[in-house]
Amino acid sequence: MIDSKHIREQFPILNKRINNNSLVYFDNGATTQKPKVVIDSVVKYYSEQNANIHRGVHTLSREATELFESARQTVSSFINSKTEEIIFTSGTTDSINIVANGLDIPKGSEIIVSQMEHHSNILPWQLWCERNNGKLKVIPINRDGTLQIKKLESLITHNTAVVALTHVSNTLGVINPVNEIIQKVKAIDQRILVLIDGAQSVPHMSIDVKNMDCDFFVFSGHKMYAPTGCGVLYVKKGLMDQLKLSKTGGGTIKTVSFERTEYVNGPLRFEAGTPNIEAVVGLAKACEFMNSIGVNNISEHEHSLLVYAQNELRAIEGVEIYADHSNKAAVISFNVKGQHPFDVGTLLDKYGVAIRTDHHCTQPLMNYYGIQGTIRASFAIYNVKEEIDIFIEALKKGIKLLS
Ligand SMILES: Cc1ncc(COP(=O)(O)O)c(C=O)c1O
Repeated sequence: MIDSKHIREQFPILNKRINNNSLVYFDNGATTQKPKVVIDSVVKYYSEQNANIHRGVHTLSREATELFESARQTVSSFINSKTEEIIFTSGTTDSINIVANGLDIPKGSEIIVSQMEHHSNILPWQLWCERNNGKLKVIPINRDGTLQIKKLESLITHNTAVVALTHVSNTLGVINPVNEIIQKVKAIDQRILVLIDGAQSVPHMSIDVKNMDCDFFVFSGHKMYAPTGCGVLYVKKGLMDQLKLSKTGGGTIKTVSFERTEYVNGPLRFEAGTPNIEAVVGLAKACEFMNSIGVNNISEHEHSLLVYAQNELRAIEGVEIYADHSNKAAVISFNVKGQHPFDVGTLLDKYGVAIRTDHHCTQPLMNYYGIQGTIRASFAIYNVKEEIDIFIEALKKGIKLLS
C-alpha cells in the first residue's frame, strides 16, 4: 500500500489551481510532473556543482564529471544493464535516430515495426528505407490493440535486419509481450536486431534488459519524473562498436588531426558536445525516487487506477474505450460518440482536468481505427481515485453541455 498523501506532497505543481479548480493531471503519457528531489537536484547542480564534464582538471569539473558518471551507474542498474551499455541522449526520439542512422546493415534490408508505433519509431526507419532502398513492414494489430504475433513471424525474411517495437503503446496502453517476441525473432534468425521503445514502459513497470535480451532499449527521462532533454540508449554489449557515428564532435575523440581522427570506444563516442548534465543528474534522482517507492508498487497502484477509471468510463453512455481491457499500463484512450476530442478536452480543462486529445503521434494507429484522434487519460504514481471521480463528473457535465 503506498502513502498517496506523502507522495503527492512531493510534487509542488499539484498545488496549482487551474480555472479555480485543483489540478487533476492525467497527461502523464506526454510528460510527468517532477518530484521535489528531482527539482532540488537541478537547483543544487546549478548552485553548487555546475561545470563542464570530462575535460577539466579543476575540482568543480571533476565533481560534475563524477556526478554525471555516477548517474550512468544509477540508470544502468535501474534497467539491469552494465554502465558501459548506457549512452545518454536527448530522449527516445534521439536514441532511435542514433540507431537507425548508425546501423551497418545492407541496402535493401527490411525493417519491421508495428501498427501502434509512435511516429518516433516509424520515421527514422522510413527515412532509412527511402535512402537505402529498404522496405518497411508492419505487424498488424487486433481490434483490442494486441499485436498479431503470428503475422510477425510471416513478415520475417532473410532480408529482415531490424524489428523495432514499442514495449507499451503510448495511445492504447497495451503492453506488448516483448520477451516472447524477442525469443521468437531470434529463434528465426539470430542476426535480426531488436530495438524496444521503452518510453511508456519504464515509467510504469520494472525493466530488465538482460532478461528481455533486446539489442537496443530506448527511453526518455521526462516521462519518468526526470527533467526534459535527456534520455537513454541502451546498447547490448558488443554492439556499440558496430554502430556508425551519425554525429560527432568534442568529447568523442582520443586524437584529432586534419588528416585523421581516432575516436574513443564506449558511450562517450556517441555523446558529442556538452550533454544536458543537470537533466542526467535529475534522471538519476528520478530512478532513486521510483526505487524508493518500489517500481512494482507503482505498477500496482496505477493498475488499480486503470481498472477503476475504465469501469467508471464504461458506465457513461456514448463512451467508447479503445483496447478495452486491463492488460495495460495506466493509459486509457476513448472517444465520446458525436463529440470531437478537442471539445471534450477543452471542457475538461475548465474543471482543471488535464488530458491529451489528438492522434498522440500515432496516425497509422488512428487510421486503423478510422478515427482522427482520441481523448487520452494517463496516470502516474501521484494520481488518486478521488481525481478520477472529479474527471468522471467533469466528463459527464461536459457531455451534457456539448449535446
Ligand atoms: C512510445 C513513445 N515513443 C517515443 C516517444 C518520443 O519521446 P520523446 O519525445 O521524449 O523523444 C514517445 C513520446 O510520447 C512515446 O510515447
